[in-house]
Amino acid sequence: TSAGPMIWGIPLKYLSLVTLAVQNSALTLIMHYSRVSTPPSRAYSPATAVLVNEMLKGSISLFIALWRIDLPSPDGQASGSLLGRVKRLGGDVFSQDCWKLSIPAILYVIQNNLQFVAVSNLQAATFQVSYQMKILTTAGFSVLLLRKKLTSPQWFALLFLAIGVAVVQIQTGAVRVVRDGVPLEDTHTMNALKGFIAVVIACLTSGLAGVYFEMVLKNSQTDLWVRNVQLSLFSLLPALAPVFYLYASDPQEGWVSALFRNFGGWAWATVLVQVFGGLLTALVIKYSDNILKGFATSLSIVISFMASVALFDFQITLTFVTGSLIVVFATWLYNHQPKRTDFAWALGWAE
Ligand code: C5P
Repeated sequence: TSAGPMIWGIPLKYLSLVTLAVQNSALTLIMHYSRVSTPPSRAYSPATAVLVNEMLKGSISLFIALWRIDLPSPDGQASGSLLGRVKRLGGDVFSQDCWKLSIPAILYVIQNNLQFVAVSNLQAATFQVSYQMKILTTAGFSVLLLRKKLTSPQWFALLFLAIGVAVVQIQTGAVRVVRDGVPLEDTHTMNALKGFIAVVIACLTSGLAGVYFEMVLKNSQTDLWVRNVQLSLFSLLPALAPVFYLYASDPQEGWVSALFRNFGGWAWATVLVQVFGGLLTALVIKYSDNILKGFATSLSIVISFMASVALFDFQITLTFVTGSLIVVFATWLYNHQPKRTDFAWALGWAE
């Protein structure tokens, strides 16, 4: 089989998986810091962050879609002028089946809002590990909706992955964001139960939305970037709803200043890293699948911890090494295709 598109001689499939792992670790730390580093009275609005995220992602996807449509179509018909391209893209975006994207769009908006609730109420590491339950919800929905067949070793691999992540967590549970010698979590009110419920629902919506997006993408010829534009368009309405609520609660203030109150550098950094992650996620779903995406992000836990060792002088412990090895083993087990010949050879049937 072909390796798919390449960048600098590396298959885009692997490049996007590795980049996603790094992006995931960065996002958890930046987002957590952006939430807990200020008292609640000076917090920025997550609803604004989700809305800006969708608008940026949609605009970037729109430009890419427009640029791609310039390439001659398979039937050799060139797309011509800018107006011609815009018209053709308009037809693609508002196609008959565009409504299908409304389902993952709503689910992703719910997930993205809940992620803020979770990250504000749990420690960074606790959040990161409980968010890995996505791996199991995603596998479940892939089997149900995509009729994906997993072999028994692959089911075991998923189980090992969950265990490995939990073991690494025992270690990283000690990682806290500290300023002036005081853990920021102690100065910020957190509600662990609220955080945990948010994370559980976010895992369910994440699994369902991802698999649904994969199903729509892989069951049609429509370009990924057109699908992304459709996704962002359908996200706007649910993303705007909490923003209106925010504005209605204080109509004296101008709406722009109400939306962007306390929206500082860390909030923008969070949104930009999220936009990058959303685009990467789309690539990963196209060139790999949602289950492999889960493995990539579980490696991000290992990356986060390594970064903490380098940056904050943490000690590597046996627990951490054990957990990481289980994660790596699970990844290998999931991707290892037992060949018939292995089996035949083991039984002495091969020549
Ligand atoms: O939890 P998970 O890793 O599935 O999160 C996916 C993230 O990627 C969500 O924030 C979602 O908004 C984003 N996404 C996207 N475009 C896609 C698929 C997912 O922006 N086509």
